[in-house]
Amino acid sequence: MVEYTYSVVPIPFSPLPQSHVDKHASLRLLALETNPECFSSTLEDERRLSPEQWRGRIDTEDRVTFIAASSFADTSDSSTLLDDDTAKWVGLVTVLTPEFLQERWVDLPRKFRKFAMRSGKPAHVLVSMWVHPEHRHKGLGRLLISQAVDWVKNRVEKSGVEDKRGDVVLEVFKQNTGAVMLYRAMGFEDIEEVSPSIWMGRKIA
Ligand SMILES: CC(C)(COP(=O)(O)OP(=O)(O)OC[C@H]1O[C@@H](n2cnc3c(N)ncnc32)[C@H](O)[C@@H]1OP(=O)(O)O)[C@@H](O)C(=O)NCCC(=O)NCCS
Repeated sequence: MVEYTYSVVPIPFSPLPQSHVDKHASLRLLALETNPECFSSTLEDERRLSPEQWRGRIDTEDRVTFIAASSFADTSDSSTLLDDDTAKWVGLVTVLTPEFLQERWVDLPRKFRKFAMRSGKPAHVLVSMWVHPEHRHKGLGRLLISQAVDWVKNRVEKSGVEDKRGDVVLEVFKQNTGAVMLYRAMGFEDIEEVSPSIWMGRKIA
């Protein structure tokens, strides 16, 4: 039996090697291929993205993608994990910042605008959450969310904004009960059901 260690780390956007762009694209396409029922985006649409568009998704400060990677015990430390060729990328979640949302405000679907503006100001939004089936039920989903939420907390703290009550929100299909249970276990509460989805949110204290 192979013993893995798991870590969750953000993809650093600078410098961004092409190998990270390629691995992120492969992982995202694998997620859409494996669990199309869990996402609004389709494999067909994202297969059409150009190499520049894939790079643009992670080579930017207005979004951050966290990667769950598995590696053999004692071969990696988390700071160099993503550069380790033997480490396998097995999960991801992306945080869209308020700046990302504001930049594209007029193009966002109306429901997205509504929930991303809870508390009267743009929230951070979690998207693209996925863990490879062979690595599920080992706590990686929890780890991805807690790292993403901690990143938002730090960012809001550092911003120096007087009112620090940021929200983190997400959309999940109601029938995706495993994911809904995971989000509830991680402190997310239902905001509103907009069939077939539930919008959930968590305050950043
Ligand atoms: C949802 C998903 C990310 C969970 O990943 P994971 O690594 O298995 O999650 P964890 O191991 O951290 O599970 C944490 C908790 O979430 C809940 N949970 C996760 N998957 C569950 C499932 N299928 N059924 C019931 N509860 C589930 C459990 O409470 C679990 O705690 P436990 O292991 O102590 O019972 C993964 O199943 C997945 O990628 N699903 C397909 C894509 C998807 O649904 N993405 C979300 C889009 S909004």
